[in-house]
Amino acid sequence: SPIRLSDYRRPAWTVDTVELDVDLEIDTTEITSRLSLRRDPAQSLPLRLDGENLELLAISLDGRPLDAADYRYENSVLDVVGAHDGSMLETRVRVRPSANTALEGLYLSGPRETGFLLTQCEAEGFRHITFFPDRPDVLARYTVTLRAEQARFPVLLAGGNPDGAGELADGRHWARFVDPYPKPSYLFALVAGRLESIRRDYVTADGRKVELVMWSEANVIDRCHYALDALERSMRWDERAYGRNYDLDVFHVVATHDFNMGAMENKGLNVFNAKYLLADPDSSTDEEYRAVEAVVAHEYFHNWTGNRVTCRDWFQLSLKEGLTVFREQQFSADMNSAPLKRIEDVSLLRRTQFPEDAGPLAHPVRPAEYREINNFYTATVYEKGSELVRMLAGHLGQDGFRRGTDLYFDRHDGHAATIEDFLAALGDANHIDLKPYLAWYAQSGTPRLHARGEYDAARREYTLTLSQLTRATPGQPEKLPLPIPVKLALFDQHGRMLPLHLDGQTVETEKVVVVDKASQRFVLRDVPSHPVPSLLRGFSAPVVLECDYTPTELALLLAHDADGFNRWEAGQQLAALAFDSLHGAGHSAACKAWCDALAASFENPAIDDALLADLLTPPGEIEFADRQSEVDPAKIHAQRQELQRRLAQRLGANALLDRYNMLSSGSEVQLDAASQAKRRLKRRVLELLALVDTDQAHALAARQYETAAGMTDRLAALGLLVRDRAPQAAAVLADFRRRYADNPLALDKWFAEQAKVPGEPALANVMQLESDPAFTLKNPNRARSLLGNFASANPSGFHRADGLGYRFFAEQLAELDALNPQIAARLATAFNGWQRLEPVRREAAHTTLQGLAGREGLSRNLSEIIGNVLQH
Ligand code: ARG
Ligand code: ZN
Repeated sequence: SPIRLSDYRRPAWTVDTVELDVDLEIDTTEITSRLSLRRDPAQSLPLRLDGENLELLAISLDGRPLDAADYRYENSVLDVVGAHDGSMLETRVRVRPSANTALEGLYLSGPRETGFLLTQCEAEGFRHITFFPDRPDVLARYTVTLRAEQARFPVLLAGGNPDGAGELADGRHWARFVDPYPKPSYLFALVAGRLESIRRDYVTADGRKVELVMWSEANVIDRCHYALDALERSMRWDERAYGRNYDLDVFHVVATHDFNMGAMENKGLNVFNAKYLLADPDSSTDEEYRAVEAVVAHEYFHNWTGNRVTCRDWFQLSLKEGLTVFREQQFSADMNSAPLKRIEDVSLLRRTQFPEDAGPLAHPVRPAEYREINNFYTATVYEKGSELVRMLAGHLGQDGFRRGTDLYFDRHDGHAATIEDFLAALGDANHIDLKPYLAWYAQSGTPRLHARGEYDAARREYTLTLSQLTRATPGQPEKLPLPIPVKLALFDQHGRMLPLHLDGQTVETEKVVVVDKASQRFVLRDVPSHPVPSLLRGFSAPVVLECDYTPTELALLLAHDADGFNRWEAGQQLAALAFDSLHGAGHSAACKAWCDALAASFENPAIDDALLADLLTPPGEIEFADRQSEVDPAKIHAQRQELQRRLAQRLGANALLDRYNMLSSGSEVQLDAASQAKRRLKRRVLELLALVDTDQAHALAARQYETAAGMTDRLAALGLLVRDRAPQAAAVLADFRRRYADNPLALDKWFAEQAKVPGEPALANVMQLESDPAFTLKNPNRARSLLGNFASANPSGFHRADGLGYRFFAEQLAELDALNPQIAARLATAFNGWQRLEPVRREAAHTTLQGLAGREGLSRNLSEIIGNVLQH
């Protein structure tokens, strides 16, 4: 039965201090733990600790070995009788790192001869290491002593400050770490093995000397420099933007190729998926550089939003994740281009979170129940959670938000907090009641905001009627109106911004109105002519805006809106109208209007290259599917291609070729914004050229592949040739394979690009790649590259009418589930949305899902996802 938020009880037993002694070996590791226990005097429950798959070797209470009658270890809990407030419980357990394929708890990364040991504890991995009340509201101080054979494990690391090290008999050695800050068990970490490091001294704004250290296996240590720079930038930024200083003497970061997620913010010892830490021009794209910077910042920012102030329970996950994603987004906007970052983030939200919110897996940012918490590290908790914080920050303004977070840190430092606590601190610091925003955390589904404008020329009044509606989601038939901040501006027919008069006062050219009822009218006075409204500027709320713009109005905003995000957004909406017009719906003039508007942008030297590249990209297939009640992915793919072909035709092969040549220069990779922007536009221009002069574009791509100075250009060329199944594709793929034989992250891209070949040919490709010697389900990055891209990033390839894509994928999921339930469950979310497929595909997906659900021995992770996907 599920775990419910409404069932929360304070822990009956907590732990003041933990002493862990860990004797490390690849196959069996022994862990001795001494817990000093604290009993809640208001509760009388006996002591119960979590423990998963532990081999119990010894147990004693207050120095006395326990009789069999005094404890019981069954069904993943340890019950102990006779404990009292102040008792010391000592246990010794054995675990098996090399047999741990789930990558949760203590496990081996890499081959057993050369690999290293590490831990992953969030959310409930610590119970795989020792017995503990494994819940985030139990904060304890940790002392960790690691012991291992020196030659095999020369580096021994744990969270906290180093507190001694030395040699032991028999070629073994030890190292101790003490963490002075009470922390929940999910932030515990250790790492042991052969690792190299790069280091940098850092002095915090409040004067603490810190040693920053990046660790990786020897062959990739040269690729850690960019991450180290990014870490330093993150630390400075958090000091400046939030007044937050780092708080230990060391900050360790370790890269691994075997990791279930992006990275993990363990106190003082972050662990990263190598994909988000390593970067060099030859193997990383510009996007990957930005992702490394963002994830390094994200994990660092957790030190305050997550670690110093942690979550009371896992329902509050967005308290740390939504806020930390928001802080990362602010940081990345500051380091790079703010409008481009906003476009990227909103695109991600629409591609991942909107479909989640619209389908059977919909859940609130603060879920009310779950069976398996690892299934709730979702786009809703992270990305929508960040949008909610953004609305709060927007409501309070920059200074008000800072006052609010200062109070939040003051009040809750060293404690486990709730989302109510967060809203209360932000509100109290500003004497504002933010409680109405709590409804956003509790209600799932994306609100639709309908806007209608009416102009009264005689009275010079513009009346904007804004209404909201959220459709029912699983388990939530009734929806309430939410407070939706709508940032708006008005443009005249020449594209000039109009001054706004609302509620009698003159204000700026931009204004925020908050819609908090089902429908509301806002009257703007003294409007000289029929205006075109620019609404939801900067994407001021995570809603779907429905406004009956004409193509001409959207083209006007695309040409003139000073808000870079809304300019792009006008283009996206115009592209959507154009898309509809291709199948005879809506405005027949929309496609021409879209092409004409972009042709003008193409010639406009004032538009930044990267923004232009984004303008020239219509919404993706997933976003188009989201707008349809019955989805045929093959048709959507074909129509989107047709839309782009018309754009390419309008721009003209010659103009595209000229622009491509203009953008092709430089034999070395520069990472400045302008150089990155050039590469982004160059890629887009070449893709468009391929739609009108295919042979020419493929020849250019083959040459670009040969001569590329870095991965961005090389992969862009390879991707185009592979997706188009160009005659040059085979040779280029073979070359790439040879070139990057020893670089697993680059090889992941080789699998990913082939998994994204559209349409019917994809499946045969993917099936063949699945039996490639370099493919393995044991490595999450590799599994995601091939299977994740096929099922989640290639709708026309996966959703075959014959259902064979589903059957193949389901087989893989079942096999993967036996190894790594977290990854299997994550990949299975690709089935989200099957109910909206056209009947033939729907039936095929349904049959496959039922077959999968009926299998014996599925993990809790996978069965929860399949069950939810099928149920609603
Ligand atoms: N806290 C990590 C981060 O977002 C992610 C941990 C994900 N854990 C999981 N079990 N899925 O930075
Ligand atoms: Zn996080």
